[in-house]
Amino acid sequence: MKQKLQAIREEALSQIQEAGMLDRLNEVRVSFLGKKGRLTALLKSMKEIAPEDRPAFGQLVNEARAQIEEAIEDTKKKLEKQALELQLKNEVIDVTLPAKKNHVGHRHPNTIAREEVERIFIGMGYEVVEGPEVEYDLYNFEKLNIPANHPAKDEQDTFYINKEIVLRTQTSPVQARIMEKGKLPIRVIAPGRVFRSDEVDATHSPSFHQIEGLVVDKNITFADLKGTLEVFAKELFGENTRTKFRPHHFPFTEPSAEMDVSCFKCGGKGCRFCKGEGWIEILGCGMVHPHVFEMCGIDPEKYTGFAFGVGLERIALLKYEIDDMRLLYENDARFLKQF
Ligand code: DAH
Repeated sequence: MKQKLQAIREEALSQIQEAGMLDRLNEVRVSFLGKKGRLTALLKSMKEIAPEDRPAFGQLVNEARAQIEEAIEDTKKKLEKQALELQLKNEVIDVTLPAKKNHVGHRHPNTIAREEVERIFIGMGYEVVEGPEVEYDLYNFEKLNIPANHPAKDEQDTFYINKEIVLRTQTSPVQARIMEKGKLPIRVIAPGRVFRSDEVDATHSPSFHQIEGLVVDKNITFADLKGTLEVFAKELFGENTRTKFRPHHFPFTEPSAEMDVSCFKCGGKGCRFCKGEGWIEILGCGMVHPHVFEMCGIDPEKYTGFAFGVGLERIALLKYEIDDMRLLYENDARFLKQF
């Protein structure tokens, strides 16, 4: 029996040494120390030994077991360390490799133009507000003094969602929404997307952007309107820019005008850019119509105000001398990179 024990111990130790992998080591452990393992079997066959020899033999078996367990534990630690070292070696990062180039984009010319307009008006104390793109006919037309069947409604080819809801054709409905809130005085601009059922060409798109402006207070006059828009034009197109107001008609303002700026390319002499006119039309404006005030709950006897609406794309095209609006929507990086 003792010889058998010795043989098992030696075999176990040599197998442990040769294990080389954690899985194999575990197999070795099970085959010697497991329930059906060889050392366990030896313990079970103790009855073959004379009773007086049993304690001594039992101790020998336990010693062998302890020795095997220790060898297994040592080898396990060694193998685990080797595995970790191998993993670390494989995962080494070469910090000297050149980094991947990150292409950072920049703001779209439309965005640059919008932020420029916002900057100018914020500088004059205006607040930037927004309104919904899907709008009630009531706000888009009725409250702006454009009743059903009014011919002015025809001028803006509209996308109807249903009889009462439209994709807003202008940012002017934001005027009515702000006035209705009843917080006076008002000094806001409202940039945003608008929609018209137009065919795409160099100057038209079914979706474009406007910036609306509205000022309501006591004693606001047409002089305030002119002064404000003149400052705006000079800031946007340069100190030497002159402005000209031509009478026009908009249903929600009275009187109404369109504002032209002197051509910043030729200074007003006339060139290809301004089509020989010397002037470029840039926005619509006017004094808020008393009826619009009434519909929005403001007393036109106490308050007056002015409003204006400018096409954002128009400003971007002029400022950057782009001759086709479609370029602004195609998102061709070769084009956008230039701004
Ligand atoms: N909403 C007008 C349009 O889309 C532009 C406009 C004109 C806005 C006069 C105004 C204004 O606020 O006073 O054609």
